[in-house]
Amino acid sequence: MLFTDEDSLDDVFHAIKHELNRGSLDSRHPFRFVSLATQGEEGPDLRYVVLRKVDKEFNFYFFTDARSSKVSQLMKDGSIVLLFYHPGKRVQVKVSGEAEIHQQNELSRSFWPIVQGDSQKAYNSVMAPGTIVSDPEKAFQWPDEMNDQHFCLIKFTPVEIEGLQLNGLTHIRAQFKSTGNGNWSSVWLVP
Ligand SMILES: Cc1cc2nc3c(=O)[nH]c(=O)nc-3n(C[C@H](O)[C@H](O)[C@H](O)COP(=O)(O)O)c2cc1C
Repeated sequence: MLFTDEDSLDDVFHAIKHELNRGSLDSRHPFRFVSLATQGEEGPDLRYVVLRKVDKEFNFYFFTDARSSKVSQLMKDGSIVLLFYHPGKRVQVKVSGEAEIHQQNELSRSFWPIVQGDSQKAYNSVMAPGTIVSDPEKAFQWPDEMNDQHFCLIKFTPVEIEGLQLNGLTHIRAQFKSTGNGNWSSVWLVP
């Protein structure tokens, strides 16, 4: 369990924050992969992404290709919902907030050196993500010289967090809302 009914709301908040941070640092942590929901043209859209970083101000960072659907969706509507699940601790964390797109600017360039060697291929396909191809191999084309032209950093600022601790018949659910300047209000909810 990540939290129990003995914990205060403050304890729960710090436990969730700590676990999210661990997810960004440990490639084997279950929070490393997160479902990221956006508003698509024809309704909700959803995909997994890698949680790359959680900074001291509690912003989250993701990498993607600027030509991917999620980026055009986020340019129209920056609202994001993230959903994490830790099977060992049996805890679900839902985080809602606002995304900012960074491409070929100071912030995105500060992350590009982390993307080493063949990992750069993820942002350098000759054809844009989502292009129809006659067979899978047609997609495996990259330029000789790779660069950060299509590398896109998604910076996400949470505004609402909900933790659900599964516990037999006595689940525990807590909700936190940002009130600005790094402050959060908190309540317990019926699971
Ligand atoms: C475990 C896992 C991790 C992934 N991580 C990323 C990621 O960090 N960034 C990314 O752009 N796509 C990632 N993907 C691929 C996306 O889920 C998605 O298929 C792709 O980005 C296209 O999404 P879109 O068309 O909705 O933009 C990952 C897929 C899986 C299964």
